[in-house]
This record gives sequence, structure tokens and C-alpha cells, in this order.
Amino acid sequence: MSVSFCGLELAHPILNGSGTFDAIAANKAFADDLRDAFPFAAYVSKTITLEPRAGNPPPRLWEAAAGLINSIGLPNKGLQGYLAEDLPQLAGLTTVREPGAEPQTVPLITNVMGSTAHEFSALVEACETREEIAALELNVSCPNVKTGLDIGADPLQLEQLVRAVRPLTRKPLIIKLTPNTADVAACAQGAQEGGADAVSLINTLRAMSLTPVDPSGPAGGRAWLGGRTGGLSGPAIRAVALAQVAAVAARVAVPVIGMGGVQSGAHARELLDVGATLVAVGTESFRDPAAGARIARELGDPARGEAAPSEESAR
Ligand SMILES: Cc1cc2nc3c(=O)[nH]c(=O)nc-3n(C[C@H](O)[C@H](O)[C@H](O)COP(=O)(O)O)c2cc1C
Repeated sequence: MSVSFCGLELAHPILNGSGTFDAIAANKAFADDLRDAFPFAAYVSKTITLEPRAGNPPPRLWEAAAGLINSIGLPNKGLQGYLAEDLPQLAGLTTVREPGAEPQTVPLITNVMGSTAHEFSALVEACETREEIAALELNVSCPNVKTGLDIGADPLQLEQLVRAVRPLTRKPLIIKLTPNTADVAACAQGAQEGGADAVSLINTLRAMSLTPVDPSGPAGGRAWLGGRTGGLSGPAIRAVALAQVAAVAARVAVPVIGMGGVQSGAHARELLDVGATLVAVGTESFRDPAAGARIARELGDPARGEAAPSEESAR
């Protein structure tokens, strides 16, 4: 079950999707349980930006058919707040690989996002100075101010961005690709040519929901989410994730982290089968905070990894 990833030795191939598991809050609520059984083999922070962000106005969530649309808007303390307050707590996460063994540190991957190459550079340079950070993940789903397209949606622009930040860090550099593009494999190749050590996908798919129409009242049809549009995640996107991960893994030589709608060991196995090296679990952790550990167990014991979430996960 253990796996090597960009020089990191991980106990199993399951980690969290950025922004979907608050390890600091979980540690406060379940300290002892978590110390012995942190659900993930590596921990990915939520997206950190240069300046603090309040996030989008409410409402921020919409329950879609078999999924979730979120317009959280990346609220965070900003780089300095993260480095000073959150990083020391996240760096202390440990897990016990086998019963009775000594606790081991969970490698920390910091996810950052800028709206320009200059901002990305400042974020990467600051993270490079902190040894608690094992690897960096660049979230390139931020809209380009000129085109309105995601920064990572254009293979050439993405290659240039990665080339600009690559010399600023010796840590493994993972590019979290946007699925909102015409050719995700070409974007992955651009990231690889720019010097990425790995790519991860899929991020959420751009989506929208409208306020329910009341037949007796004025016309409905207004956007429900405070941010107007949001990102769709969960089982609804699993088939899209499988297709995009397969296309990317067939195109690039660097390792791929696959995610999107994973609820069981069988779902994780599918992503590994099409070429992913690691699998991230996102929305499922809201339903079952221990999902990461359960999915890792199911992967190790295929008889338990049925296609639908097991009884155990419903607790
Ligand atoms: C509530 C929520 C918050 C998220 N926040 C982030 C984030 O801060 N940075 C990021 O790169 N991805 C973020 N994501 C995307 C997830 O990491 C993941 O790519 C996506 O949800 C697909 O996986 P899933 O279907 O298992 O949730 C977020 C997703 C959700 C549902």
C-alpha cells in the first residue's frame, strides 16, 4: 500500500482534496482519535493567497443532484497569517501506520493561488523558506483578469507560469489543473514542459443554480449562490474525472493525483487503473470525516471496496 511520490514516502495512496478537510478544526474536535488515525497519507492545505480573503457572500452551497456546488470563494488568512498561525499546527499532524507503532509525521502539501505570475512567485518563494512544507500545489483555476478564462486553461500560459516559478523552489511542484478547459491533457503537458513534478485533477467544474421558482410569486431565475457561479464536485463529476485523469496520464510522464467524486476504494482503484499515482478525496469527507481512512482500507482489501460507499461510511 505504501507509495513513493516525488521523493515522499506515503503509507497509502489517499490524500485529501484541497479545501475539503479542515485539519486544524478536526484536531480540536477529535484530537486523540485523529492522532492515532489521521485519515490521509499526506495533508493538502486549502488554497492560500498572498493577501487575506473573506470569501464570497452567502449563500455559498447548493446541493445538486449527486453533488455539491460551492462558491466558498477561497477565504483564508493570507500568506503571512498561514505561515505564522496555521503552518505550525498543520506541521504537527501525525498518524500511526500500524497498531503499536510510533506516530509518524504526515507530509504537508501547501496549496497556493495567485492572480498573476508575480503573485505566484511571491507565494512560492515564501513557502520555500519553510521546512515544514513537503511540497507545493499551485491552484491555477483563478480567472485571468484580461480573458476571464482560468489562468491554467491555456497550455502555453500555464507552461510560462510554471517556468517562471520553477527556479524558486526545490520542493516538489504539483500543478492542480483546471477541468474548465478545452484540452486538459495539453494543459498538463504545458505544466510538465514548464518543469512541474506532478499534476493533480480535477478541480471543480464551473456550475450554477437558480433560486427555486415560486409559481405564485414574481419570476424566479436569479442565481442562488452569492458568487453567482460556483464549482460542482462529488459523485456527479466522477465520470468526467475518470476521463480527464485518463487523458492526462496518457499524455504526461510526471505522476498524476486523481480526484473527483471518489466515495469508495473501488472508485479510487478506477483512478489508479487509468494512471493516477495518488487519489484525493474531497466532498465525501463532508459526509464521512473518516472517509479517507476507510477508502485506503478498502483499497488494501478489494473485497471491501465495493462501488457504492460501504455501510461503515454511513455512520
Ligand atoms: C467546499 C469545497 C472547497 C474547495 N476548496 C478548494 C481549495 O481551496 N483549493 C483547491 O485547489 N480546490 C478546492 N476544492 C476542490 C477539491 O479539492 C477537489 O478538487 C474537487 O472538489 C473534486 O473532488 P471531490 O469531487 O472529491 O470533491 C474545493 C472543493 C469543495 C467542495
